[in-house]
Amino acid sequence: MLKSTGVSKALLAGARPTRSFVAKSAVRALATAAPVNPVVPPVRTSFGNLKDEDRIFTNIYGFHDYKLQGALKRGDWYKTKEILLKGHDWILNEMKESGLRGRGGAGFPSGLKWSFMNKPHDGRPRYLVVNADEGEPGTCKDREIMRGDPHKLVEGCLVAGRAMNANAAYIYIRGEFYNEASNLQVAINEAYKAGLIGKNACGSGYDFDVYIHRGAGAYICGEETALIESIEGKAGKPRLKPPFPADVGLFGCPTTVANVETVAVAPTILRRGGRWFAGFGRPRNAGTKLFCISGHVNNPCTVEEEMSIPLKELIEKHCGGVKGGWDNLLGIIPGGSSVPVLPRKICDDVLMDFDALRDVQSGLGTAAVIVMDKSTDIVSAISRLAAFYKHESCGQCTPCREGTTWLANMMTRFENGQARPREIDMIEELSREIEGHTICALGDAAAWPVQGLIRHFRPELEARMAQFRQDAQVQV
Ligand SMILES: Cc1cc2nc3c(=O)[nH]c(=O)nc-3n(C[C@H](O)[C@H](O)[C@H](O)COP(=O)(O)O)c2cc1C
Ligand code: SF4
Repeated sequence: MLKSTGVSKALLAGARPTRSFVAKSAVRALATAAPVNPVVPPVRTSFGNLKDEDRIFTNIYGFHDYKLQGALKRGDWYKTKEILLKGHDWILNEMKESGLRGRGGAGFPSGLKWSFMNKPHDGRPRYLVVNADEGEPGTCKDREIMRGDPHKLVEGCLVAGRAMNANAAYIYIRGEFYNEASNLQVAINEAYKAGLIGKNACGSGYDFDVYIHRGAGAYICGEETALIESIEGKAGKPRLKPPFPADVGLFGCPTTVANVETVAVAPTILRRGGRWFAGFGRPRNAGTKLFCISGHVNNPCTVEEEMSIPLKELIEKHCGGVKGGWDNLLGIIPGGSSVPVLPRKICDDVLMDFDALRDVQSGLGTAAVIVMDKSTDIVSAISRLAAFYKHESCGQCTPCREGTTWLANMMTRFENGQARPREIDMIEELSREIEGHTICALGDAAAWPVQGLIRHFRPELEARMAQFRQDAQVQV
């Protein structure tokens, strides 16, 4: 072996190799060495079946003690001081490596978003605002975290706050969430008492406060800038952007608004490593995720699963299937009321992640899965959502204020077919005039359910209109 690589006797005796020898032997080594196959991990093609040891939320059903003693037993607050001492760059890098995308609906990469806060210090305090408004119909995950695992959120505030060098966190919680707010307050009080937050949090030398602010139950206050206005004591009306909250946010100071689930998963990611979290789900769609499944299933539930799990498997495995069997399925809204409905044929094999649902012209949104079987009056269901968005519009922009009213009025007539088929194209056009032309995304949220209905259930609309005309003629 040695002979064949041409190593001289002098080298074997311990002499230092000359430069020209090193260069020559390196070239020869490159020329003669057997090709090294890099270890490429096998491409994963199936997702789901999350194991218990990989679950982040271990008390969302409230079976165990939600207070500090119970939380410590479940691994919360473990080595938090060490995480804080590693500093903001380390935390941000781990978060970026984890691939976590915001769980509030838009799916923006969290590590990147949090890094926008670390501009040179200009003397203003910085804030983390946690969005616990959870107003999106169908969504029921953040409330489970706050009721059953509140210490995960409080610890999450601390480590996310450290990543942003924030001075305090404000948790904006929907007014109706009485039990959630009270459990969370107990956890905050315990954390202060144990020195985990407050001055010199966890003995790290970092000072950090956590406050709860209770809202009054308006859907629009979940929009991040409306939420900031609301904390400031004003009416919850979204602000024009720019300036973005990371520049001018709460009380005019740099602020990041993040969803409860996004913040609550951070400590586990930092303890187990960004790569661990990135190992779940398809590329760009990493992690584990809380899915809330409601409607016509045998066992509606909120469950933590791997991202990219097939929609059908999620329902069959965790919800006991669709009522009356999969063949009785009419359609599913896969990500909360604002994303377009999917008909059964797409539900058969679509994956539950950001990219797969975008590719079928819907969205993961808040991962609130609303299942509708064949007993559903789909036109009436979408009409109900149109009425909701009309009611919740803050009225600042004309396309949203007027457009949501038109949508709701037309959808009411569509319910019993009292319209002409050409109005289907008119309502579609109207929805396009709203989408993308408003200050905040409530306008889009109002437009998309109607667009989904037309895309997949147009024959149903036309049949209703034909029936209505026929009935009217019979009466004449
Ligand atoms: C009308 C409207 C309502 C919203 N409601 C919520 C909500 O209840 N909870 C939430 O986390 N995000 C909500 N969002 C999204 C927030 O504006 C924001 O994007 C999110 O809190 C960011 O968190 P993330 O980066 O962790 O996803 C809403 C957005 C809009 C337009
Ligand atoms: S889109 Fe609607 S809810 Fe949003 S700011 Fe405009 S009027 Fe208000």
